[in-house]
Amino acid sequence: MRLLVTGGAGFIGSHLSRRLVEQGHSVRVVDNLSTGFRHNLDAISADVEFVEGDLRDADAMLDVCRGMDAVFHLAAMGSVPRSIKDPRTTYEINVTGTLNVLEGVRHNDVGTIVYASSSSIYGDSHAEFKDETQPFNPISPYGASKASAELNVLAFGRAYGFNALALRYFNVFGPQQNPEGTYAAVIPVFITHALRGEPWTINGDGRHSRDFTYVANVVDANLKALAKAPSVDPVAMNVACGGSISLLELSDAVREYADAAGVEPVHGPERAGDIVRSRAAIDLAAATLDYEVVVDWREGLRETVAWYRDGSA
Ligand SMILES: NC(=O)c1ccc[n+]([C@@H]2O[C@H](COP(=O)([O-])OP(=O)(O)OC[C@H]3O[C@@H](n4cnc5c(N)ncnc54)[C@H](O)[C@@H]3O)[C@@H](O)[C@H]2O)c1
Repeated sequence: MRLLVTGGAGFIGSHLSRRLVEQGHSVRVVDNLSTGFRHNLDAISADVEFVEGDLRDADAMLDVCRGMDAVFHLAAMGSVPRSIKDPRTTYEINVTGTLNVLEGVRHNDVGTIVYASSSSIYGDSHAEFKDETQPFNPISPYGASKASAELNVLAFGRAYGFNALALRYFNVFGPQQNPEGTYAAVIPVFITHALRGEPWTINGDGRHSRDFTYVANVVDANLKALAKAPSVDPVAMNVACGGSISLLELSDAVREYADAAGVEPVHGPERAGDIVRSRAAIDLAAATLDYEVVVDWREGLRETVAWYRDGSA
């Protein structure tokens, strides 16, 4: 199939693009390289058509969708703290940018869109598990933008008759996730500090918990979504492992796998917009896509530590 991956130079998008190429698909990537890197696609550079383009450019999104059978829409401004600092740009990229992609899909008769949604749309809830019957309750501009984009993806699918699925990822991690910068995700930051023998900072008391999801599971869910989309009405579903791992537990595991026994992490202040607990029910994806966890968080963490240590997983 001819497939477009928006955000394909990013962390998750580059893993997905690699699997799609391995499966023999013809892959086009569009990315503005704001948080992604060309080198993430080095292993498949000869097999991928790379287009440097911005979601906010409506004409570019019309062009880039031409001739595609399906679009995986992953490009986004993907950080909670950054969205609190700059809600307008978050909205322009994540909401209006998604509208531009949807117009590209609609006007080019693309059959399917699979959208990278987020657990952040649920916000904080006291329920043990977050399932898809729970309402949107985002607590950051990022979460609100992902909820809004998701609604648009599903509504456009229904209104214009194309296949539309939204996969709500929960805290994804793995090789190639960027450990640098103010807005880096927690796992690559912990790992790179541990490998250097330097203390890492846990925001808050460490009892915040997450459903950390190794990237191979997310790639697998996207492949299954592509295959199943024609037989499923537009719907959103969680993609995660169904686990609840506290930052303290994560920190201990990183210390063990990175052989950093002597290093003590330090505690910093809680971050604004951070959800306290986040754990997914994954029954809907299991029923709809035959989704199942292919790599659990501990195995994924070991592979990720090995990648940061050796440069390969
Ligand atoms: N990483 C996670 O834990 C997680 C969790 C839930 C949802 N998601 C979603 O998954 C998707 C991918 O996230 P990621 O972790 O790979 O992040 P990432 O930052 O590595 O990837 C995002 C990619 O989009 C590109 N991009 C950003 N703005 C753009 C624009 N205006 N035009 C074109 N390209 C643009 C970036 O350059 C980057 O390559 C995002 O939609 C994010 O919201 C991620």
